[in-house]
Amino acid sequence: MIRLAPLFLVVLAASSPAYGAVSFVTPGNPESAVATSSAYYVGQMNRDGAAILKYDLEGNRDMSFTAPNFTNIRGLAMNGAGDTIWAAHDGAVAELEFVDQAQSSLRLKQLYNTSDYIAAPNGLCLSDDESTMFVTDPLANALLQIDFGDNNPTMTLVFRRQGLSPNGCVVQGNTVWMVHRTVAGITKYDISKSEVGNTEPFSLDTIVALTSTAQGPPSFGDGIVFWNGKLYVSVWEFSAAPPWNGTVFECDSTSTCEPFSVGSVAADMQLDLKTPDQPALILPNLFGQQVATLSLPPAAATEAPATAATEAPASAAISPAPLFVSSAVLLAGLAAFILH
Ligand SMILES: *[C@@H]1O[C@H](CO)[C@@H](O)[C@H](O)[C@H]1NC(C)=O
Ligand SMILES: *[C@@H]1O[C@H](CO)[C@@H](O)[C@H](O)[C@H]1NC(C)=O
Ligand SMILES: *[C@@H]1O[C@H](CO)[C@@H](O)[C@H](O)[C@H]1NC(C)=O
Repeated sequence: MIRLAPLFLVVLAASSPAYGAVSFVTPGNPESAVATSSAYYVGQMNRDGAAILKYDLEGNRDMSFTAPNFTNIRGLAMNGAGDTIWAAHDGAVAELEFVDQAQSSLRLKQLYNTSDYIAAPNGLCLSDDESTMFVTDPLANALLQIDFGDNNPTMTLVFRRQGLSPNGCVVQGNTVWMVHRTVAGITKYDISKSEVGNTEPFSLDTIVALTSTAQGPPSFGDGIVFWNGKLYVSVWEFSAAPPWNGTVFECDSTSTCEPFSVGSVAADMQLDLKTPDQPALILPNLFGQQVATLSLPPAAATEAPATAATEAPASAAISPAPLFVSSAVLLAGLAAFILH
């Protein structure tokens, strides 16, 4: 039974990820999105007027929501209480707080200027005790650590190493898991030992293979999420035009990664636990200008009998990609992407 459980998960995942339970088209290029119990907040990776946008749980944009604009908003992170959002952008990480219970706007609480260390903060991951933020910059080959302190934040460069291009990150206890944009696959940083790891063997056949291809469109490792003992990792194909293509992998750090959802495109993928028995991944499709959710197996599913797989819906409902993408917006996005 214990040996069957992971198999069951793979079968269930391969046959029935409920992609597009929520799916909405966004203006600009969504790089990251987080969910509170009542809304999605989406960051745009655009040079001018890049904003954090608010959508309700059905995917309708709240036009009255306001938040400070930054240049090229990349990773977002949210605290457990859901009252603070951090936004990585050119030169800094912004700490933003909601002004009221209705979350009608975000205001800047603190700006962590990273320009002494990294120019283009990208992925964000908060330590379990929420006292430390890790910040990736794939183009600087670097991981930065911000310790918030009490009104006395400190920054430490964890590494700057050729060959590494940390993009997404997630903290699990003393481990910072990172997926690299190219070649390096998945690595970890051991916080308590200050040890920077090398490519994890479990990522070689999949993440490393896909992001090391010399021919064809480049594929980038981007988002990484820890859920229920597994890592979920997004890899997407760089493409200026549809069809958008990517894969979300499910990785067991003691064995391998397996495709969890082929065709799901996600930049900085995040975990959505707003409905505790319906965990989901949030998939921001940067160039496809769309945000969708992808259901994860509930925590209890690991104990489910193998026969339950037959109850899973037969096929995934892939929501249609937006039919029209303004070429000006796309070019602006591409330019911003290439320059950063
Ligand atoms: C921020 O960006 C939004 C959307 O791009 C725009 O409508 C708004 O005017 C901008 N706000 C400021 C203060 O620049
Ligand atoms: C960070 O500080 C540098 C040096 O003071 C400044 O040039 C830059 O504009 C600041 N960046 C942000 C995003 O505030
Ligand atoms: C694109 O799709 C094909 C299957 O249609 C898959 O084999 C390939 O790995 C995909 N690329 C990515 C980055 O997921």
